Amino acid sequence: MIRSSYIAHLKEGEEVLAGFVHEKRDLGKLLFIILKDKTGEIQVVFKKNAVSEETFKTAKKVSRESFVKVQGEVKSSEKAPGGRELIAKSIEIINKAETPLPIEISGKVETNLDKRIDWRFLDMRRPEVMRIFNLESKFVKALEDFMHDEGFTRLFFSRITGEATEGGADYFPVLYFDKEAFLAQSPQLYKESVLLSGIDKVYDLGFVYRAEPHHTTRHLTEFMSFDVEFVTDEMKDALQLQEKLLNYAFNKAGIEVRIPKRFPVVSFEEAQEIAKSRGAELEKHDLTPEAERKLGEYALESYDSDFIFVIDFPFEKKPFYLMRKENEPDLTYSFDLLFKGLEITSGGLREHRYEKRVENIKAKGLDPEKFDHLRFFKYGMPPHAGFGLGIERVIEKALNLSNIREATLLPRDPERLKP
Ligand code: 4AD
Ligand code: MG
Repeated sequence: MIRSSYIAHLKEGEEVLAGFVHEKRDLGKLLFIILKDKTGEIQVVFKKNAVSEETFKTAKKVSRESFVKVQGEVKSSEKAPGGRELIAKSIEIINKAETPLPIEISGKVETNLDKRIDWRFLDMRRPEVMRIFNLESKFVKALEDFMHDEGFTRLFFSRITGEATEGGADYFPVLYFDKEAFLAQSPQLYKESVLLSGIDKVYDLGFVYRAEPHHTTRHLTEFMSFDVEFVTDEMKDALQLQEKLLNYAFNKAGIEVRIPKRFPVVSFEEAQEIAKSRGAELEKHDLTPEAERKLGEYALESYDSDFIFVIDFPFEKKPFYLMRKENEPDLTYSFDLLFKGLEITSGGLREHRYEKRVENIKAKGLDPEKFDHLRFFKYGMPPHAGFGLGIERVIEKALNLSNIREATLLPRDPERLKP
């Protein structure tokens, strides 16, 4: 038996605990060890006169962060942190930690983020780091529960593809025998094409890849994408679905955010004006990161909301698969959702009509011959909409972290391939 109880669930009386030696205090005839597991900490007391010489010696020499097993009696104690302590009878060093530790994890000294990620799994021994990934786990579970309750089916789309999904150049080529292939930038073209089958609500959750050469606090080359697609002929259904989904998931995961039932919505044109009036530098066809931040401030001040939709982006900077507006073909039925001033989803109404889709591809200077999925669009494709949500960005912002890498277990960027 490794343990009789986790630390947070201890009862008074005899217990066996296993965990890491967080701290050690040696007072000569008394030795205190703060033992921690994933649920919490407890003070373990070794009294020289009450344990064997061997036990006392072992406890004295154990290094910080070693994995140990201790047996003893839990007693309430006013002086002990948490109001209880374990009076030890024996200790076993199951696996010692070398000294010195490669990073500081006592929480007393800051280690820089790069170094911390080099030692990610050791860094995760800090409760505030472990909390990030426990919350992510709960949040993702809630997203999935919601989608199932709404009648969506989870499908698993291949991440090895012959099509450059999002257009542009940010894809990783892979050596695939004698063929040209890419790591998928998103499951976009598959999640759309599958709607031809008659299944009318799908989602996919998995890694996608972007060969973004930039070093920023919001870009990864591999991120977890929550991709949704469903049959509808109105974009507002996709906005509403996101409102309900995020309300449910944040609530379920116990993450506190300012989240109204209905999110404020502004057009791209209005968004540019708002950002400009707040001093942001603008780009003609897209929101700059600074403009996004200003819109985040605007949403908070004007609507007490951490969320704001920007809709109707120019076709110029949006992907070919979006439907262009009937009377304003330079614009698309599209949206980005900003959360605390950072884009967390993109989506829109798609072009389901074969000829128009081909036109869009050509308008982007791309070759329709290179898009295998197009052939499915000839056989009764229903109109549809959807979005992709970047999990790491949501967690980063939800916990007010300052870098997407903090919210990514094993971040991949142009420099980093390990751990
Ligand atoms: O805006 P993106 O590129 O849109 C798509 O992939 C579409 N296929 C989605 C759709 O259904 N129309 O990516 C979607 C989201 C972004 O809003 C952002 O949250 C995240 O994925 N994302 C990134 N996260 C981390 N690193 C990157 N390099 C990211 N690129 C996009
Ligand atoms: Mg986007």
